[in-house]
Amino acid sequence: MNMTSFPPIQALRHAASLPVADFRLAMRRLVGAVSIVTTIDGETPVGLTATAVTAFSAEPARLLACINLKGTTFRAIAESRRMAVNLLAVHHTELAQKFGGAPVSHEERFGLGQWGSLVTGAPILNDALVVFDCVVDEMMVAHSHAVMIGEIKSVRLNPNPLAPLVYADGAFTTISPPHPGEQP
Ligand SMILES: Cc1cc2nc3c(=O)[nH]c(=O)nc-3n(C[C@H](O)[C@H](O)[C@H](O)COP(=O)(O)O)c2cc1C
Repeated sequence: MNMTSFPPIQALRHAASLPVADFRLAMRRLVGAVSIVTTIDGETPVGLTATAVTAFSAEPARLLACINLKGTTFRAIAESRRMAVNLLAVHHTELAQKFGGAPVSHEERFGLGQWGSLVTGAPILNDALVVFDCVVDEMMVAHSHAVMIGEIKSVRLNPNPLAPLVYADGAFTTISPPHPGEQP
């Protein structure tokens, strides 16, 4: 490939950007694991459903979560600097809906499921597939979202081979657990 044929970056910046409808249509094909990202607002648990969560680095152990600036959860994470990422199993579909934009209060969101805490005090879902309890190491704000980089202080693995909750083509679904076995 001839690198000199690339247009200058300034020219690309002025090129039209992707319409939101095209972005959404294309992103429906990005299959995602589903998490509930939680924190505490004073004493009050808050949290949201998120698919924009991924591993960041192994050494040091970090993950990242992209959180919309408009939500109540963003403000609480930015203030408390702690967050727990609770990876969901397929039996958590109702929880994912409640935390994912259903018109319910945070109190109602946490009314479903069994919640506890580990090291940071951020709420953890006791039967999550895995829980990452984090201190927010860095926060980068860009456009409508913040990238929260979590320093993983503690991990809790569910010993049961649960099928993960997956979001694909705008719907909740699942895949077979990697180690087939009895479901609880
Ligand atoms: C499947 C799914 C994935 C989502 N992923 C994210 C995400 O990665 N980041 C985000 O900020 N919001 C995401 N949302 C939207 C929030 O869960 C939703 O807007 C929530 O009500 C925000 O709560 P809050 O006002 O407490 O912040 C997602 C929603 C769904 C249903």
